Amino acid sequence: MGRAGATPEPTHGGGEPPAPQHVAIIMDGNGRWAKARGLPRTAGHERGVEALRRTVEAAGDLGIRYLTVFSFSTENWRRPAAEVNTLFGLLKAYVQRDLQRLKNEGVRIRVIGQREGLPPDIADLVNRAESETVGNTKFHLSIAFNYGSRNEILRAAEAYAKALNDGTENGPLTEEAVKSFLDTKDLPDPDLLIRTSGEYRISNFLLWQAAYAELLFMDVLWPDFGRTQLEGAIAKFHERERRFGAVIPGAS
Ligand code: FPP
Repeated sequence: MGRAGATPEPTHGGGEPPAPQHVAIIMDGNGRWAKARGLPRTAGHERGVEALRRTVEAAGDLGIRYLTVFSFSTENWRRPAAEVNTLFGLLKAYVQRDLQRLKNEGVRIRVIGQREGLPPDIADLVNRAESETVGNTKFHLSIAFNYGSRNEILRAAEAYAKALNDGTENGPLTEEAVKSFLDTKDLPDPDLLIRTSGEYRISNFLLWQAAYAELLFMDVLWPDFGRTQLEGAIAKFHERERRFGAVIPGAS
């Protein structure tokens, strides 16, 4: 099988690799942060939103163009209803409070994940955030909400089958064609995937897209994350040698 046209070239050979264009984050540890302080888990999620605000601002300043964060997974429905409601409420409050500012700052907002099943008020708000920022190009914030990678791939397969049936696709099925049916179709693949809270799992996040991402597991709990931790993550990224399956010329 030929190489996928979209697979980047290795980065090496003196000098630092470029700053990560796209950083993806599994924002984990809100519950433990709250528990350690004798607070309800919801307090951890509230502080998690503040960490997200700090991180979006820092990412823009540090030259990152794409930030994708995991806010609510298709598996998170298994949590108590009150916690699920809090997470929905926080998304709503975040968009309501920050949309105008983000829009003015040139941020394009996307919400990736399954729309079906979202309460209508949230779906409307998400649609509004996306449509009002569709012309922005300076920074791309993607919020994965009701997102699971297997679910995304399944929906892509269903959409592809439908397109074949409709005659709008006629194959062959290529990696590029698969990508074009994913929620992330117009995003570059993540260069760096961070998970906070000391857990070493990907948890059904961007499984297709993170094929060549550098993985970084950090001990910090998400509510304590901010500019300093993001700078640290970028420094670690710069220590990595990205080969994309190739051999670095001159390497023994
Ligand atoms: C994982 O921590 C975090 C989540 C499931 C939710 C992440 C949500 C936010 C950071 C705030 C919401 C932001 C928006 C924009 C909606 P956990 O609860 O699994 O923590 P634990 O592993 O310590 O229990």
